[in-house]
Amino acid sequence: MDLKISGLFKYIEHLHGNRSWGSFLDAGTGVKSMQWLSTLNTERWTAVTASPGMAENAKQAYPKPLRANDRIVVGNWVDPKLLAGETFDTVLVDYFIGAIDGFAPYWQDLAFERLRPHVTGRMYITAVEPYVPVVEKDECGRYIGDVGRFRDAMLLLVGHRPYREYPSDWMARALKRAGFNPVEGRRFPIRYGERFIHSQLGMCRDRLHLVQDERLRAGLLSQIEALEAQGRALLERHNSIPYGFDYVIAAEPV
Ligand SMILES: C[S@@+](CC[C@H](N)C(=O)[O-])C[C@H]1O[C@@H](n2cnc3c(N)ncnc32)[C@H](O)[C@@H]1O
Repeated sequence: MDLKISGLFKYIEHLHGNRSWGSFLDAGTGVKSMQWLSTLNTERWTAVTASPGMAENAKQAYPKPLRANDRIVVGNWVDPKLLAGETFDTVLVDYFIGAIDGFAPYWQDLAFERLRPHVTGRMYITAVEPYVPVVEKDECGRYIGDVGRFRDAMLLLVGHRPYREYPSDWMARALKRAGFNPVEGRRFPIRYGERFIHSQLGMCRDRLHLVQDERLRAGLLSQIEALEAQGRALLERHNSIPYGFDYVIAAEPV
């Protein structure tokens, strides 16, 4: 299988240097982090998700047989019994904080405190700087924000919970409060492509049937189509749509 490892994960490898990966915890797993994990020289790994569907996808994405002590655990970090007493040399928090609202609403402020006893070596956080509330003037930023706001409005409308992303300075404050030292980090400019438009607007299309009012449903569909067309036109002009930042923070227990 040809694995495409993101620049963020490559940067984490660079930050990790000659340290051993040892026992590894993927605190909020998924397809991408599992694929990366398969390329690392770990002693054993545990990957956690609150979603049984995500556990299945992650398992499918892992291109090797699992070793005796590798495991995917379906559980919620709000449960104090989850991995109680277990520690890990390396912990990955990959787009996890932003997803918490879907599984443990209003609990983000306690997440690092909850993870702290499990970390003996290094913890790496990846996330996206929030872009939804911003209304930019330039056409690329404006478009990405329009898609994000439309997606979140649509999710709320049908009673689902959108993600809530947090900026890097919030993350640094939360880490310090929970007994971590943020030691290094970097921001990475994002270039959005076809996949972003397809996945975000696809998420909206998949939920159209949950909208009861027929006229509203028709209006939402035409807005989805308009945003798809606008996205295609932007991609023709720009090749990919540059806007906003992902970031990585490396942290160590104090
Ligand atoms: C956006 S996905 C992470 C992306 C993933 N690392 C990848 O490579 O695609 C967020 C993950 O965090 C998990 N998650 C969010 N809140 C959680 C919680 N309270 N307890 C356990 N897992 C949680 C979700 O179930 C999901 O597996």
